[in-house]
Order: sequence, then C-alpha cells, then structure tokens
Amino acid sequence: MDNREIILDVENLNTSFISDRKEVKIVKNVSFQLKRGSALAVVGESGCGKSVTMNSIMRFLGSNARVKADKIQYNALRDGKVTEYRLESIKKPHGPEMRALRGPEMSMVFQDPMSSLNPVYKVGDQVAEGLLQHNKGMTKKQAREKVLEMFRKLGIPDPEERIDCYPHQFSGGMKQRVVIAIAMICNPELIICDEPTTALDVTIQAQIMELLKEMQVKDGKSIILITHNMGLVAEMADEVCVMYMGRVVEFGSLEDVFDRTSHPYTQALLRSVPVLGLADGQKLETIPGATPNPADLKGGCEFADRCPFCTDACRARDIPMFELSPGHRVRCLKYQEFPEVL
Ligand SMILES: Nc1ncnc2c1ncn2[C@@H]1O[C@H](COP(=O)(O)OP(=O)(O)O)[C@@H](O)[C@H]1O
Ligand SMILES: [Mg+2]
Repeated sequence: MDNREIILDVENLNTSFISDRKEVKIVKNVSFQLKRGSALAVVGESGCGKSVTMNSIMRFLGSNARVKADKIQYNALRDGKVTEYRLESIKKPHGPEMRALRGPEMSMVFQDPMSSLNPVYKVGDQVAEGLLQHNKGMTKKQAREKVLEMFRKLGIPDPEERIDCYPHQFSGGMKQRVVIAIAMICNPELIICDEPTTALDVTIQAQIMELLKEMQVKDGKSIILITHNMGLVAEMADEVCVMYMGRVVEFGSLEDVFDRTSHPYTQALLRSVPVLGLADGQKLETIPGATPNPADLKGGCEFADRCPFCTDACRARDIPMFELSPGHRVRCLKYQEFPEVL
C-alpha cells in the first residue's frame, strides 16, 4: 500500500519514562498502519499503554519521557499530493512543525477533559483559538459562527449563551463536549479519541459516535478510538488493535479480532466484556491474575502468568508477531508456524 492509502505509519515505537533515575519501559515495539479514511479501535486493560502510545505519536509527552521509533510517519494528502512528515525526528514537540500539523491534520481528544480546558478563558474562545491560529484571514465573528455551529452539532444546548461561559459553569459531560469541539474545529484528517465519551451519558455518547462515524464515512476522515466499550468497537471500528503491557498482541480487521480471535489475551478480554450485554443468569468472567508491574518484567510474553496455554518457551524470549492472514497479526507462540512480521 502506498502513502496515499496509509495516513499513519508507526514502526517500532518504544516509550519509557524516567523516574527516580530508573527507566521504565511502557510502550514496546509498537507497529501499526492506519488506512486513510478508516477507523481503528485500540483496546486493552487500563494501564497497558494506550494513552502513552497516542501521546507519543502526537508528541505530547513531558520531558521525563523517552520516545524512540524507527518511524512515526504522517502522510498528509493535500490537493492529491502526499507530503510525508517524520514525527519521530521533529526536534521540538511544541515547535512550529508540530503546531502546523496539530489542528488541521491531526488532533486528539484527551481522556481527561478537566486538564485540557483552561479555567480562566471562556469556552467559546478556547474552541475559536485553533481556528484563528490556522486561518489567518478569519475574523473573530466568523470564528464565533463556526464555534456555534460545532456546539450545535455536538448537542450543546443554548449554544449562544453557553459559548460565553467558563469551564466551571459546565458539567463534566458538557466540558467533554467542549474538548471534542476543540479537537474537531479545524476539521482534522486524523482524529485520535482517547476514551472520549466515558464521562457522557449513553444518548450523548451515541450522538458523538454518530458524528465521528459521519466524519469518517462522508468526509473520509481517519479515526483512532481508544475505548473499553466493545459494543462501540463493534459499531465503529474497521480494524482493532489489542494491547497488553505496552505491546500490540493482536491486530486485524474487526472480523479477524472478534470472530477469529487468536491471542489468548484477546479471547479472555472478549469473554470478560460481553458485546451485547449479559443474558439472564450469565456471569461476567474476569481474567484471572493481575497485570504485572511494568518495572518487574523479565522478558518473554507478558501474558504468560495469566495464560492457560503458557509453556516454558513463552518465558524464554520476547515473542515476535506472526501473520495469520493478510493484516491479521498475533504475538503468540501458538502461531509460530506462521510468518514473522513487524
Ligand atoms: N508521565 C508519566 N510518567 C510515568 N509513568 C507514566 C506516565 N504516563 C503514564 N505512565 C504509566 O504508563 C503506563 C501506561 O499508562 P497509559 O498509557 O495511561 O495506560 P492506558 O492504557 O490506560 O491509557 C501506566 O503504568 C502509567 O502509570
Ligand atoms: Mg488511557
């Protein structure tokens, strides 16, 4: 596939944090490609490195983070022409190169809405800021109109009044919608949503997911959706990336991952979270064991202690990815007769 079809190409992304002079690896050899115009869901237990992966790509991490990658390539497609950006080699994460991309090309809805809003500015001004920054000729009045339009799309009631409120006057769900407005206002080609609707009630959640889907299907936008909600994955995703302890353990189309589930962790994950709710009398299964502390890992498969299929070989070395069918990759020795891939 060429760069016209691939919007984001990540190869061997490794992120660690330095604390108390120790380096703890959080994201390990993550590789994936995102097809332009498609939706990728990223799933995995809390703490497995989903947010850190996306923040590494967006270059949002602080100075205690070490991000290394063979490639984090964003392929912008403008007027039929592809421009490649190697994000891993951009020196200043908050310098002009990244700022030019964030907003009109790639943007992110953060997990925690509180930390992404500034308490001393009106919400409308915070949404308009990106617009005015990226559209030099735009007047404040035009920007305000655009913000109102976005508020209406996101189901914010009384937008004409709400636009001049401060964040503390908003409920959690309403703040989250403002954060989504900030991410969407510049009409980005790639939108990364980090559990964007956890604070919202079901109706609003459905409304926002519909809006995302519409952006994808009608406008050809690409989406990465981090979520715990397997029902949402089934509805939204073309492809699914399953992470465990900082690694991608399974990656494939929605059908590959849901119907031909291959990694023992994915199997356990799908058993523990029913896609269509629980039948009467059915008990929710939990995955036995707890996730190990990242600082205690000794190499080998991270899931070994919890895996019913574990053998000595699983602990002897890091496990490569095997490709079961085109695009369906699994990091598990059960499949070692298949070709090794990145
Ligand atoms: N800034 C940071 N400094 C040190 N450790 C961090 C930092 N951010 C995240 N971590 C650690 O990285 C791991 C993965 O976190 P995260 O990516 O937020 O998980 P999740 O999959 O739930 O999004 C966790 O163990 C977390 O404590
Ligand atoms: Mg997270």
